[in-house]
Amino acid sequence: MGRAPVLSVAKGTTYVTRPSLPPLGEFVALLRPIWKSRVLTNNGPSVSRFEERLERYTKCRNVEALTNGTLALEIAAKILFPLRATVATTPFTFPATTNALIWLGMKPRFFDIDPDTFNLDTALVAQSSNRSIDGILSVHVFGNPAGSLEFEALGRTRSIPVLFDAAHALGFHSPHGNLLERGDASTLSFHATKHFHSFEGGAIATRNPSVAREVRLLRNFGIVSEEEVDTAGINAKMTEIQAVMGLANLRHIDRWIRARKIRFDLYRSLLESSEAIQYQRLDAGKYNYPYMPILLCSRRVRDRVFDALLRQRIRARKYFYPLTSNLPYTRKYAHTRLPVATRVADGILTLPLYADLSLREVHRISACVRSAIRDAGS
Ligand SMILES: Cc1ncc(COP(=O)(O)O)c(C=O)c1O
Repeated sequence: MGRAPVLSVAKGTTYVTRPSLPPLGEFVALLRPIWKSRVLTNNGPSVSRFEERLERYTKCRNVEALTNGTLALEIAAKILFPLRATVATTPFTFPATTNALIWLGMKPRFFDIDPDTFNLDTALVAQSSNRSIDGILSVHVFGNPAGSLEFEALGRTRSIPVLFDAAHALGFHSPHGNLLERGDASTLSFHATKHFHSFEGGAIATRNPSVAREVRLLRNFGIVSEEEVDTAGINAKMTEIQAVMGLANLRHIDRWIRARKIRFDLYRSLLESSEAIQYQRLDAGKYNYPYMPILLCSRRVRDRVFDALLRQRIRARKYFYPLTSNLPYTRKYAHTRLPVATRVADGILTLPLYADLSLREVHRISACVRSAIRDAGS
């Protein structure tokens, strides 16, 4: 088998994202204690400090740091859902959400999404027969937690666990209480391509201290003490160097979100007049602007816009296309038609958005989108 291609960043190309970085001096200052102590991993002091700061920032009682968002999903699903569970979930997501269930021997049961919010459709899941699902895994798509209160209530009524993939949601402030304390747990991703990162990284947030205790056990092989191993855990520990990057970035996250908002609003004002574009309807609250998704009327138009941008060396992304219910290993789980998710996946395009994207570039990208839509005759 060939090696995976080495990631190269072409000069003069605008990518969909560009990681925000703290001033180098701040990062280096936080590294010094690591060099002194030689504690590099195994839940060291920087990881503990990062967890405390995340708890303070999110106001969630328990935030357990992990090596990435995928392992966060796998550990949370393993704790919450029964063995071989059938889990109601969305096909409009990054493959990690669906893969986590399959990896654990669980069955994703795909439901369609809401045409306005792009999140799992609460009414369709609520209509499913009582015994047909053992749990719910919903995604706050592009940081938007619409429907999460309804899923929390549904989980309570049916006595089934509810897990939220909140990979994009750090920094969203809800007027309806603490977002990350909704349901039984939420997972976060701090991947470098996210609006907040720790190089790679992730976390499980939960109001439930016994879930948090289990996360701490499972992320460390199931080891309780020197001579005691309680369960078949895994290694999902965050390293000290990841935690230090997270700590440094957390000081700047609100400033970066404000910078993203300026660019997001500018896109909206420049593109708004185009009737060919639909936008995601956001839940009430203070949004965190992790992505700049636009919904075009068809796959043909979306691909025309994508290609036109590419010719201008602008790398938009088709997030999330294809649907995760339409992969060679998942089709067997897709038992119902998913017309809304199919339409949204066919039309979706995510434009470049990051804190230091120049406003001039937002103008150039918007002009290119508008003219490509016109050329496509939409
Ligand atoms: C919705 C969603 N869930 C999970 C993940 C996986 O997170 P990670 O890359 O940190 O493993 C991602 C992105 O990477 C994502 O977008």
